[in-house]
Amino acid sequence: MDKILVVDDESIIRENLERILREENYDVDSVAGGRDALALLKKSYADVMLLDLNLPDMHGIEVLQEVKKLDPDIMVIIITGYASVDSAVQALKLGAYDYIKKPFKADVIKLIVRLSFEAQELKKKVGNLERRLPQLPSQLNMVAESDQMRQILKQVREVARHEDATVMITGESGTGKQVVAQSVHHLSPRKNKPFLEINCAALPDNLLESEVFGYEKGAFTDARQRKKGLFEAAEGGTVFLDEIGEMPMNLQAKLLGVLENRRFRRLGGHRDIAIDVRIIAATNIDPKKAIEEKRFREDLYYRLNVFPIHIPPLRERPDDVLALSEIFLLKFSRKFNKKFQEIDPKAGEYMKQYAWPGNVRELRNVLERICIMHNDGILKQSHLPPEIVSFQNNDSFLEIPENVFDIEALVDEVTSRLIRRAMKKTDGNIACAARMLGLPRGTLRYKLRKYGIAF
Ligand SMILES: Nc1ncnc2c1ncn2[C@@H]1O[C@H](COP(=O)(O)OP(=O)(O)OP(=O)(O)O)[C@@H](O)[C@H]1O
Ligand SMILES: [Mg+2]
Repeated sequence: MDKILVVDDESIIRENLERILREENYDVDSVAGGRDALALLKKSYADVMLLDLNLPDMHGIEVLQEVKKLDPDIMVIIITGYASVDSAVQALKLGAYDYIKKPFKADVIKLIVRLSFEAQELKKKVGNLERRLPQLPSQLNMVAESDQMRQILKQVREVARHEDATVMITGESGTGKQVVAQSVHHLSPRKNKPFLEINCAALPDNLLESEVFGYEKGAFTDARQRKKGLFEAAEGGTVFLDEIGEMPMNLQAKLLGVLENRRFRRLGGHRDIAIDVRIIAATNIDPKKAIEEKRFREDLYYRLNVFPIHIPPLRERPDDVLALSEIFLLKFSRKFNKKFQEIDPKAGEYMKQYAWPGNVRELRNVLERICIMHNDGILKQSHLPPEIVSFQNNDSFLEIPENVFDIEALVDEVTSRLIRRAMKKTDGNIACAARMLGLPRGTLRYKLRKYGIAF
């Protein structure tokens, strides 16, 4: 049971508090002075302590300091008749959780005590998570539980040390390319300089060019004043070129020049400017395919691909699903003032089985929505959106009914389902589907006809 210790020299206050708190089913003890409180805490413990600041034998602040030495996790709520702001602020600075003035209302006491228990739970939970991520510096919020992500974290650390190495990050949308790019920056010697990003798909061509390279006054009609581009503004730091696959061809040529010479010119400028930035590029399209289709320059690709990092989709690393979910759950639970603390194992199974087509971003959105719509200590199956719960059922074709023995029929059934799935996933692209299935294209065409699958 949750244990509370009340420390107040007035017996009527002690009795009052004991009664109020017992109504809420807490296990309550009370003592009249600081020394008794400390003696008791040395033998036993309490989760929460209600502490009067004006005690006959010791000052409350002194008691607070001693108590925190004995048990740093105890939540101390200060009660005082002389509600002087100074002593309250001092108490909060010394680690008290909150502060109540006498006379108090029962409801206020109940609420503050309940909040203090919740805060304590969250603190424990975060403490546990932090212990599980000992290798991460605090500014890094990249979860890496699966073997694949641990491997990526190793690569990130390695390349971070080489402050000029260009990095190319590939992976489906929402897999965490931006998170990885930021981690490279934060772990690098450039960490105290800017990290500037630009999304090459989000701006019209001419604007993208002037944002990246900057311009001189009069370079074009609207250029009333000289403006620094990204490369200059990020001096000493990192430039993150997101969705590089969408960069127009003429800019690709210019970027190649910058990478080769480590210099550039502002638009309308006549002078080369040396750059001292690390460039990280990212794309969610397959660069090889873009090269084949002549949308991406092969020479630029090789210049950028000095240190490639590929982030696998979330469905290929189910071990990350729960670790990420726990972190998002705590984060949104706190943000929306909910009490979610943990994930029921069955619900966790569903989440691990689901294919997460939107990857980590989708997972994050799902948890955010759950925290907005529900409030419970445990995330349960009933909180999950239907697509996650029904996903497994649609797909559980390996459960073989007891009266089925015909091997060939069963193999046909499984084969046709896998082919349908691959065709759906690749939008009917036979070459991609064949690769995914590990079949020669001709064989796939034959099977498509055999099973009457439209293509
Ligand atoms: N390993 C991770 N640890 C913690 N959060 C992550 C991780 N990977 C992704 N996220 C979170 O998931 C969301 C999507 O990640 P991010 O924006 O980095 O994806 P992306 O690959 O850049 O997507 P897009 O291709 O759509 O730009 C972000 O909110 C990010 O914080
Ligand atoms: Mg991104």
